[in-house]
Amino acid sequence: MPLQKDFLWGGAIAANQAEGAYKKDGKGMALVDVLPAGNERWEALFHPKVALSTTYSHYPSHEAIDFYHTYKEDIKLFAEMGFKVFRTSISWPRIFPKGDELEPNEAGLRFYDELFDECRKYGMEPLVTLNHFDTPLYLVEEYGGWRNRKLIEFYERYAKVVLKRYKNKVKYWLTFNEINMLLHIPFFGGGLIFDDNENIDQVKFQAAHHQLVASSLATKAAKEINEEHFMIGCMLAAGEIYPHTCHPNDLLKSVKENQKQYFFIDVQSRGEYPSYSNRMFKELGVVIEMQEGDKEILKQYPVDFISFSYYSSRVTSADPETNKNSSQGNAMETLKNPYLKSSEWGWQIDPVGLRVTMNQLYDRYQKPLFIVENGLGAVDKLENETIEDNYRIEYMREHIKEMIEAVDDGVDLLGYTSWGCIDLVSAGTGEMKKRYGFIYVDRDNEGKGTGKRYKKKSFDWYKKVIETNGEQL
Ligand code: BG6
Repeated sequence: MPLQKDFLWGGAIAANQAEGAYKKDGKGMALVDVLPAGNERWEALFHPKVALSTTYSHYPSHEAIDFYHTYKEDIKLFAEMGFKVFRTSISWPRIFPKGDELEPNEAGLRFYDELFDECRKYGMEPLVTLNHFDTPLYLVEEYGGWRNRKLIEFYERYAKVVLKRYKNKVKYWLTFNEINMLLHIPFFGGGLIFDDNENIDQVKFQAAHHQLVASSLATKAAKEINEEHFMIGCMLAAGEIYPHTCHPNDLLKSVKENQKQYFFIDVQSRGEYPSYSNRMFKELGVVIEMQEGDKEILKQYPVDFISFSYYSSRVTSADPETNKNSSQGNAMETLKNPYLKSSEWGWQIDPVGLRVTMNQLYDRYQKPLFIVENGLGAVDKLENETIEDNYRIEYMREHIKEMIEAVDDGVDLLGYTSWGCIDLVSAGTGEMKKRYGFIYVDRDNEGKGTGKRYKKKSFDWYKKVIETNGEQL
């Protein structure tokens, strides 16, 4: 079996999609706390000015699955499956409610102390994202989000506080969730709201520069605080972009589209802007404003490992007419791939694409990889206190098989955390109905339900996978 003995099997969630308790113990509002569920959410994400001045009937992040209060029983269930690692994020506004304070909120810090202790109690390694779509709302409204260079300073302060506080409890850290999402859903990724007539690409890439510098500064702080122990990773919303045909122009287009995604990781891993970015910026009319010292910081503090989410591959064409038939998949446009099936939400299912993506990432960076999100969002039917989620088992089995093939190809892989190991609020749609978990949570799209947890069929299946280190799928 190609997987190493101490392979890190586990599951992943994010604070804003699970914790709820959105004002408890001094927590401030996060940008995601003004977003509704359902069709209105997509609208709000792309017209955040409207979202900020609208009152919606339901905000799914406010209560989510109440993980803030149920984490002990939930972690116990993860331990029962044999998780070696549990990925979650720290809610930045729990620690700095507005974001620009000088002193952190002790109650927020205490919550994560207890949460990480609970993981450790079961020998589970926490894998912690510093910023997962929940920049403090105040920083968005008062400072314009990540377009403002001041955010580097606020983020660095926050990172230093939590890195110091949990230095003996957490080893694996991710600086930004899906950092390239800034290009696709700029409000989520960077708290960006655009003015009419401004060059949107300029704003996005300037914000990206700020995040990249902030990420390196967090890595610097980590090295200063606990060089021996910490492992710092970047996080990419990955998925190879295929050419629509073997026409050279289509291939070239796919190369360019892939570069746009890899851009972030190229900087975070290699420590400098890639040479192709000069032309890319010229064509987009982008001029990055840098300060003295930025280039040195990027160079000196690259990440230790490359983490990524993988849900699907994508397809692009050089022909604008053909590309007009693009549809959405995890917020990224893609043409329909005739060889693939799709999920109920239209995301194309491509297990081999995971192997392709892993090979590409490893060839490019030669640093250990970590799959920190993968899974199937599906409608589950609770019957006799369980769910026969064979479709989920099938999805995961095929992906894990390809993951193991990639390791056999020579890829160095630290671990695998399936997304939404317990049902949680969907990031893209705000729905509860789009479920990923091994554990069913009795809550509906309106937030109604007992909140009770039920094991799905996939619960025992995944337990076996972990127990046999991937031998029994
Ligand atoms: C990733 C995010 O983009 O995809 C998660 O990091 C998100 O936060 C996941 O939940 C699945 O997307 P969705 O829209 O189905 O929740």
